[in-house]
Amino acid sequence: MSLRRRTLLKVIVLGDSGVGKTSLMNQYVHKKFSQQYKATIGADFVTKELQIDDRRIWDTAGQERFQSLGVSFYRGADCCVLVYDVNVMKSFDTLDNWHEEFLKQANPPDRKTFPFILLGNKIDIDGGNSRVVSEKKAKDWCASKGNIPYFETSAKEDYNVDAAFLCIAKTALANE
Ligand code: GTP
Ligand code: MG
Repeated sequence: MSLRRRTLLKVIVLGDSGVGKTSLMNQYVHKKFSQQYKATIGADFVTKELQIDDRRIWDTAGQERFQSLGVSFYRGADCCVLVYDVNVMKSFDTLDNWHEEFLKQANPPDRKTFPFILLGNKIDIDGGNSRVVSEKKAKDWCASKGNIPYFETSAKEDYNVDAAFLCIAKTALANE
């Protein structure tokens, strides 16, 4: 039996409204997907217990009128998951703002090494024919922010969701 205290990781998910933050979380934690859109209001969390750690994943609202989270919400975050929709250019263009907003609010000791991860979601739509953000463009953005890991996902098809969240844990734990 290990006497080591279990780690509780605080993971915060950010990105524009409708990119699939809630859906990714539901797929990861409950293995469920719903076609129906229900806006997240404020913030909500789920806790997933794993062998190596417990993970508290904070889902946030992309809609501006529901955003009022404040400094105390971000404080103590171990990892920040940024999500955009590969079919919606604006959701990619706003990543800079989300990234900056997080750093401003969370104010981590080292801004350069704080673990972020980027998910390009909804790659299932139209077999990829309606995507407007290329993988290269996304990876270039990640490189410009200090080599953020990048995953292309589909919450609907459960594609790469586990892999992405596994990487999130590794990144966050490495930061302990
Ligand atoms: P806010 O709570 O407003 O910030 O939005 P959100 O980012 O949580 O988006 P949400 O998960 O609610 O998803 C928005 C819509 O996109 C819903 O209708 C989902 O069913 C759909 N959706 C989410 N992920 C995917 C995906 O990977 N593929 C497809 N085809 N649809 C998706
Ligand atoms: Mg939501």
